[in-house]
Amino acid sequence: MNLQLSTPPRPAGSRVAGLGHYQPPTVVTNDDLVARGVHTSDEWIQTRVGIAERRFATDETMLDMAVAAASKALANSGISPTEIDLVILATCTGKQQVPGGAAELASRLGIPSPGAYDLNAACAGFVYGLNAASNAVLAGHAHTVLVVGSEKLTDYVDLMERGTGIIFADGAGAAVVTASDRAGIGPVVWGSDGDSAGAITTDPATATLRQEGQSVFRWATSTMGDVALRACAAAGLEPSQLAGFIPHQANLRIIDLIAKKLNAPNVVVARDIITSGNTSSASIPIALSKMLERGEITSGAPVLVVGFGAGLTYAAQVILAP
Ligand SMILES: CC(C)(COP(=O)(O)OP(=O)(O)OC[C@H]1O[C@@H](n2cnc3c(N)ncnc32)[C@H](O)[C@@H]1OP(=O)(O)O)[C@@H](O)C(=O)NCCC(=O)NCCS
Repeated sequence: MNLQLSTPPRPAGSRVAGLGHYQPPTVVTNDDLVARGVHTSDEWIQTRVGIAERRFATDETMLDMAVAAASKALANSGISPTEIDLVILATCTGKQQVPGGAAELASRLGIPSPGAYDLNAACAGFVYGLNAASNAVLAGHAHTVLVVGSEKLTDYVDLMERGTGIIFADGAGAAVVTASDRAGIGPVVWGSDGDSAGAITTDPATATLRQEGQSVFRWATSTMGDVALRACAAAGLEPSQLAGFIPHQANLRIIDLIAKKLNAPNVVVARDIITSGNTSSASIPIALSKMLERGEITSGAPVLVVGFGAGLTYAAQVILAP
């Protein structure tokens, strides 16, 4: 028997149609952390990490922030919730293991019975989600997909521990991905290093996040520059043709070292970590959404996103701004 099954019609391309973000209103400065009793200083944090302040969720849950960011992305895209047929929620800070949050997120947004799943690639999660969304569209399995990166890291960080409590923060960012007559989302360059899985983990007893800061720093600065260059090449662009570069917002020194490797001085580099801290999977869509809002990037301009984090995992791709 030589059966051939039907496959859905495929569009020529996929594109990002809209972005949105949400950050909780509570601002926590470095001096606020010192006042809480953390053994650190504003000078140390600004010099070694680049953070001046961050946002902590007080009343909001991870899902509340996801709903707020996604609502803005939908409004900015001009696409109705009823047109979404797949929802991907990238998070590593869901409140419980079961169920995942994507189906409830869809329900709260008024999206009727879409495909829905959570994705955990930690700080690389949004870029993995964007690629999964694009692939679903290109294969004809979905026409329009909502991708959200949302994290409430303060649920998983010992805020008195100076190696992690000064770095991580809360927030959400979202994108609407839809079918297009030309390619607006470039090929992904991705990978992982499971031998280094222990570099960023949650303690099984306390569920508190721990990291080997120096080895993560070395890994990110020694490998992500090449990943960024390969993602440009895969999209058929020179780095100098980019309008913006949005790496995961982990540490300002990491951002600047990867940007140096990119060697494209006229490209606008996201440095949202200064006022937002590290919001894991949310950091890239928050930073990108804010760059668009400020008019630093215009619609249709190519931008490079590079996510990396626990796993260890990474993913990078060029997209055209909505
Ligand atoms: C965590 C990180 C900020 C630490 O910075 P670092 O420059 O590597 O600092 P070290 O751990 O080497 O510590 C240097 C000194 O500062 C001290 N120190 C560490 N954290 C401190 C803090 N928050 N405030 C003040 N001093 C601190 C250490 O105790 C050490 O003191 P010593 O020299 O007297 O022993 C940095 O390694 C980093 O950002 N790594 C990447 C982590 C990351 O990006 N994780 C997320 C990936 S998604």
